[in-house]
Amino acid sequence: MLNNIDINKMNQLMEENKDARQIISQLLENHHTAVSTIAHEIRNPLTLVSSSLQIIEAQHPEVKEFANWNQTMDDVQFMCGLLNELSTFNNSNRLHHSVFSIERLIRNIAVSFAISLDAEDSDIEFSSKIAHGMGDFTGDKMKLEEVVLNLLRNAKDAVGEEGSITLCAERDSDQIIIRCKDNGCGIPDDIMDTIFEPFVTHKEGGTGLGLSLSKRIVEAHGGTITAESSKENGTVFTVFLPI
Ligand SMILES: Nc1ncnc2c1ncn2[C@@H]1O[C@H](COP(=O)(O)OP(=O)(O)OP(=O)(O)O)[C@@H](O)[C@H]1O
Ligand SMILES: [Mg+2]
Repeated sequence: MLNNIDINKMNQLMEENKDARQIISQLLENHHTAVSTIAHEIRNPLTLVSSSLQIIEAQHPEVKEFANWNQTMDDVQFMCGLLNELSTFNNSNRLHHSVFSIERLIRNIAVSFAISLDAEDSDIEFSSKIAHGMGDFTGDKMKLEEVVLNLLRNAKDAVGEEGSITLCAERDSDQIIIRCKDNGCGIPDDIMDTIFEPFVTHKEGGTGLGLSLSKRIVEAHGGTITAESSKENGTVFTVFLPI
């Protein structure tokens, strides 16, 4: 996997040399196609296995009594989810631009998130502070929604049953700033450097793609994403998006 230094070197080579630009672009395209093809080829038979298991369970409910049946069903669902996330990750820097109100987008996400907490009868305190008049934004609406949802989901996992989460959005001259704060468990110093790398997870059942995907999406918009955390105060993720 390329780290930031490798990516910077690669970008420098591409800027300096026309042939390198052509070859690297072609390699990246081949890499993208290879990942898409592998994900697609594995997903097809896996979907068949998943459907067959569901039919078996519907026609023979007694199979649920078998040791490991539920675990097998969960594992298959997890693999389907992982392949979906891998495809999304692979496509995260391909943006479909439109012009939209970022204020309305963040407001809608906040409302949906509050509803989902209510539906679960959660005791998590959720609030949002979304500035008016942030103007139109040009970017990939669906992908930016994915970013904010990833941050909110992580915050929810971090605060557990109780705790509080705040989503803020404001405009600061030529950039939009989105913050997701929680007073949860915090991110230990020794893992802070790796949280944005793909497949880094400290959760049972996590894929570890949420933050790396979010970073790729934000950077594809020319923005940045940062994290500050402490055990005492919890965590703040901040997304800066140039207008
Ligand atoms: N708000 C947060 N508070 C504490 N730790 C966090 C927070 N956000 C992320 N982390 C840490 O960073 C790790 C990586 O997060 P990331 O979203 O990439 O993957 P994940 O949540 O583990 O899995 P998934 O792919 O399902 O999102 C998490 O496993 C967790 O240890
Ligand atoms: Mg996550």
